Amino acid sequence: MKITFLGHASLHIEVAGKHLIVDPFISANDKAKHIDVNTLKADYILITHAHQDHILDVESIAKNTGAKVISNYEIVTHFGNLDIEGHPMNHGGSWNFPFGKLTYTNAIHTSSFPDGSYGGNPGGFVLETSEGNIYIAGDTALTMDMKLIPMQCKLDLAILPIGDNFTMGIESAVIAAQFVACNRVLGYHYDTFGYITIDHAKAIAAFKAKKMDLNLLEIGASLEV
Ligand code: NI
Ligand code: MN
Repeated sequence: MKITFLGHASLHIEVAGKHLIVDPFISANDKAKHIDVNTLKADYILITHAHQDHILDVESIAKNTGAKVISNYEIVTHFGNLDIEGHPMNHGGSWNFPFGKLTYTNAIHTSSFPDGSYGGNPGGFVLETSEGNIYIAGDTALTMDMKLIPMQCKLDLAILPIGDNFTMGIESAVIAAQFVACNRVLGYHYDTFGYITIDHAKAIAAFKAKKMDLNLLEIGASLEV
């Protein structure tokens, strides 16, 4: 499985010959100017919640690629009204997709669309595949529910928000990694705007102190699971 960081909370995942995009917010991200949304490959678009910084490029990517949206019922209905095909899920539910088994997990956050309409409750995803298992936390606080994940799935990578202010920050993310029993972490949702700027060296050291490995990828860079 190849995971490419597209900036903010946006990811591209290549697994089992399929291309997944998570929470695309690229075209308005000044730090991701070198990423061309129009050339991204996608079979599926995974959406954790309805905030603008997670859905901005969903419509254009779906229309360019024919990708199917996977999210909660409310978000899939919203995009369905724009003639975009989707697969609705809700918390605790799993489905076997051609790329692997996906579970929609709890997140503590909010989830309204940019116009204020209801986006359902926010979530994250656990993705279990023949090439490894990952957790994409979405925007969330540290939550005890994270402890449920390793009871059902042995993770190879946890993708956690670390920018603080709108989500958990570094200290909480260290505990989150312990809760999900995964010592390999990819940080996201940091540095995009002023409220979420972090000290990279400090963040990496905080994880290292607990014998965990925090990866902070350049936008456009990848790691393998
Ligand atoms: Ni959000
Ligand atoms: Mn966000």
